[in-house]
Amino acid sequence: MRRYLDKLKDMLTYDADREFYAKVFPGSVSRKDLMKIRYMEVDDLDDVLSIEGKNYNYPWTENIFRDCLRASNYLCWVCEELETGLIGYCIVSMAAGEAHIMNLCVDPAVQRQGAGRKMLEHMIEYVRKKTERIFLEVRPSNTKAIQLYNSLGFEEIGVRKDYYPAKEGREDAVMLALDVVSQI
Ligand SMILES: CC(C)(COP(=O)(O)OP(=O)(O)OC[C@H]1O[C@@H](n2cnc3c(N)ncnc32)[C@H](O)[C@@H]1OP(=O)(O)O)[C@@H](O)C(=O)NCCC(=O)NCCS
Repeated sequence: MRRYLDKLKDMLTYDADREFYAKVFPGSVSRKDLMKIRYMEVDDLDDVLSIEGKNYNYPWTENIFRDCLRASNYLCWVCEELETGLIGYCIVSMAAGEAHIMNLCVDPAVQRQGAGRKMLEHMIEYVRKKTERIFLEVRPSNTKAIQLYNSLGFEEIGVRKDYYPAKEGREDAVMLALDVVSQI
């Protein structure tokens, strides 16, 4: 029910209104509400690669991002703020009726401000009509990401042995899934 009320609120509140209220009544609109999600473009790649490099020991290369942008079954979004610019991105692959989160990343300077949650909520709403389940892999050591996914209903469904490169050889991946059909 809450989801539908929030959706209705979003439909009735235009971005310009939010920015107006934020200026006139500072504090009346949350930072997360002022963030915007749009599709990633090739021109975003400098910012995207900079954020990627700040977050991962084994970052994706520019070619990987370019391949994602070219692939028709990949959804690539960015999150931005009016004053800060691009602050994060999310990449999802769609195949055989399943969505797979390939990358979710927020600039360390802006983490814990709601951008990660905002991108995931946007993605879940978008893929809801096209898929039954959303999957992802995450390092077991990445407790903040796991907390975020759990808070949105993702549950552990297994472990992929030696999935990630790590300083001491390889690290397992925890597999999480969200059953979007059961959420309707
Ligand atoms: C994981 C990540 C995307 C979260 O993005 P974010 O914008 O910082 O997250 P949000 O502000 O939306 O926080 C949402 C929830 O995540 C969890 N979380 C985020 N940062 C946390 C922290 N430092 N400690 C504990 N929990 C944290 C909390 O559950 C939080 O909800 P709450 O603020 O209501 O408690 C971000 O930390 C990141 O980019 N990490 C590096 C890349 C990465 O690991 N990506 C995930 C790969 S699977």
